[in-house]
Amino acid sequence: MREGSHLIVLPFPGQGHITPMSQFCKRLASKGLKLTLVLVSDKPSPPYKTEHDSITVFPISNGFQEGEEPLQDLDDYMERVETSIKNTLPKLIEDMKQSGNPPRAIVYDSTMPWLLDVAHSYGLSGAAFFTQPWLVTAIYYHVFKGSFSVPSTKYGHSTLASFPSFPMLNANDLPSFLCESSSYPNILRIVVDQVSNIDRVDIVLCNTFDKLEEKLLKWVQSLWPVLNIGPTVPSMYLDKRLSEDKNYGFSLFNAKVAECMEWLNSKQPNSVVYISFGSLVILKEDQMLELAAGLKQSGCFFLWVVRETETDKIPRNYVEEIGEKGLIVSWSPQLDVLAHKSIGCFLTHCGWNSMLEGLSLGVPMIGMPHWTDQPTNAKFMEDVWKVGVRVKAEDDGFVRREEIVRSVGEVMEGEKGKEIRKNAEKWKVLAQEAVSEGGSSDKSINEFVSMFY
Ligand code: UDX
Repeated sequence: MREGSHLIVLPFPGQGHITPMSQFCKRLASKGLKLTLVLVSDKPSPPYKTEHDSITVFPISNGFQEGEEPLQDLDDYMERVETSIKNTLPKLIEDMKQSGNPPRAIVYDSTMPWLLDVAHSYGLSGAAFFTQPWLVTAIYYHVFKGSFSVPSTKYGHSTLASFPSFPMLNANDLPSFLCESSSYPNILRIVVDQVSNIDRVDIVLCNTFDKLEEKLLKWVQSLWPVLNIGPTVPSMYLDKRLSEDKNYGFSLFNAKVAECMEWLNSKQPNSVVYISFGSLVILKEDQMLELAAGLKQSGCFFLWVVRETETDKIPRNYVEEIGEKGLIVSWSPQLDVLAHKSIGCFLTHCGWNSMLEGLSLGVPMIGMPHWTDQPTNAKFMEDVWKVGVRVKAEDDGFVRREEIVRSVGEVMEGEKGKEIRKNAEKWKVLAQEAVSEGGSSDKSINEFVSMFY
């Protein structure tokens, strides 16, 4: 056994990526590995040891100077990040070797597939980490191979695609860039590129668990050395310093933890709708107004996360009008909130992390997907796991207030709601089993760790 084998972990600089990969670091550290978590940042700072002794955070530059606006042009951003990583890694690896602790592998975010060749060029193994479900990756793979052509318009298609043991997908269920290829050509290329060299990857890790995508798993395992290691929840942040680092978009410093909890404590069990759209989604102003009206009209208690940059879209006097019925916060401790007994359902944009968190904590969901993998995740939630409903949008994607009221009523009170709650309980147990000692994901993590002992 090589004591304390060392791995480099390199997430894409976005919260939905850093969170699951840093949680994975925690799991690996608990099993004896040493980790260096390389984080691409607006403002790099010296490396620091986290609360977990064997995990060091190593912030590096995203390649932009202070004052430059990074996200103007996605291609430029990706290129600068790539250059910065390629300039920094050699010295980091060299230093690790000098200190007698050479790295054995790079666990890299699947959105940066070129890191496989970087790893190989230093004699390290490359493990791609996917933060989306297999179904989404499989769809991208078919697009990459040319066996699934991208429809040019979103609407006007009915059934479009079928995958093993999965309901037919129509245009609204596909990852959004596939249908809107003309509006997001760069993002489409990036998401499809994730699988461009998957056939050569040494280990393919995915934040999902075996039972969640059982039939598809057989297919992906027949193609690649796959290990499902999720859900990387229930979990808390890696480290206080990281969770409060605005550089990576973490706003836990901003979360009104005590306020949320006190408010929830004063409510009856299963009586509150929790609403969050993750760290990126921007709703149009008319959609925010409509959602606000729908929540008010539903008559339910609600805890609504409206990020600071979105607060000016909340209708005037709304907070006074809703009074005790609703609490609006700029960021919440989402895992604590979802685990609270007062929460009756989770109205979510269907980001994969949020889906896994809701599922692991047995919370019924209402899906209001926005883009990327979210429509496909919503399909999973409604038609495969059957733990919630998806709101029906108008042809232009707009969701009316009546639909919000209807969906909340259906999940919180209706007969269907009871069925959904039962299924949610079932999946909660399965998710927890997967990550418990001896569960499928725990075994996969052990298998992964054993490769470096
Ligand atoms: C994005 C994509 O949407 C997602 O589908 C992809 O797989 C990863 O990148 P994001 O939109 O931020 O992520 O959503 P999500 O994946 O749900 O992650 C949001 C995270 O922020 C969750 O872990 C959630 O717990 C946390 N969060 C959100 C809070 O801690 N507090 C909040 O108030 C809101």
